Amino acid sequence: MEVVIKETYEEVSKAAAALMRHVLNAKPNAVLGLATGSTPLGLYAEMARMHREEGLDFTHVTTFNLDEYVGLPASHPQSYRTFMEKNLFQHINIQHQNTHVPSGTTGNYRAFCEWYEQRIKEVGGIDLQVLGIGSDGHIGFNEPTSSLNSRTRLKTLAEPTINDNARFFDRREDVPIYAITMGVGTILEAKQVLLVANGANKAECVAGMIEGPITAMNTASALQLHPRCTVFIDRPAASKLKMLDYYLWVQAKKPHAPY
Ligand code: F6R
Repeated sequence: MEVVIKETYEEVSKAAAALMRHVLNAKPNAVLGLATGSTPLGLYAEMARMHREEGLDFTHVTTFNLDEYVGLPASHPQSYRTFMEKNLFQHINIQHQNTHVPSGTTGNYRAFCEWYEQRIKEVGGIDLQVLGIGSDGHIGFNEPTSSLNSRTRLKTLAEPTINDNARFFDRREDVPIYAITMGVGTILEAKQVLLVANGANKAECVAGMIEGPITAMNTASALQLHPRCTVFIDRPAASKLKMLDYYLWVQAKKPHAPY
């Protein structure tokens, strides 16, 4: 796992965007895995800026989102489809038919999840997977005790996740309790992974992910098995890392990295 530590959230977002640009320049028809939540907002704003000011082209890019709430139609203001349209897709020249977000309203979840996995395979797999991390260590909605081999499926959200996400809804009771999510196994098959995290409330799960044992109690720790995973974090999120000095040393010895 490569650990990149920046002073501020803005720098984290810019560094992650530099890796994104690097991947898209090398492969203009790349397949991207995308996350929602607060953390990637800075990265998405930076991608929109690079499109606007530098002509970064998304015409041939395909995307797959990690997850969607069950029960929310795509048009719902809190659906992850709406989130993606508002925070990224509307601001870049991606073709709507190339964007995939799991359906929160399908009549047959099992068949839908199989189709989603199949569709990822058909387009050649995910080239770069963007991830955030939940305070309980989840990636996608793979809550603690999720199988580290899991595939896209329906999951029941853990209470800390419902509490964390209540900030987006009028009432806590409005937060859906089920979601469709790519599995940890699905995520590990991406050719490259980029995870962003910021803030002191992520320090513990970030330390578990990078330095803890690989455990289903922190599903992000499974990324230790991934051969090409770069983690971009700010100082507060890095504050519980035992090997902090080592990561900073390695970073200083890589002056030509694109970020
Ligand atoms: C969202 C997702 C989640 C979030 C995580 C962190 O698609 O997959 O795993 O990345 O809950 O959310 P924020 O960034 O809001 O702290």
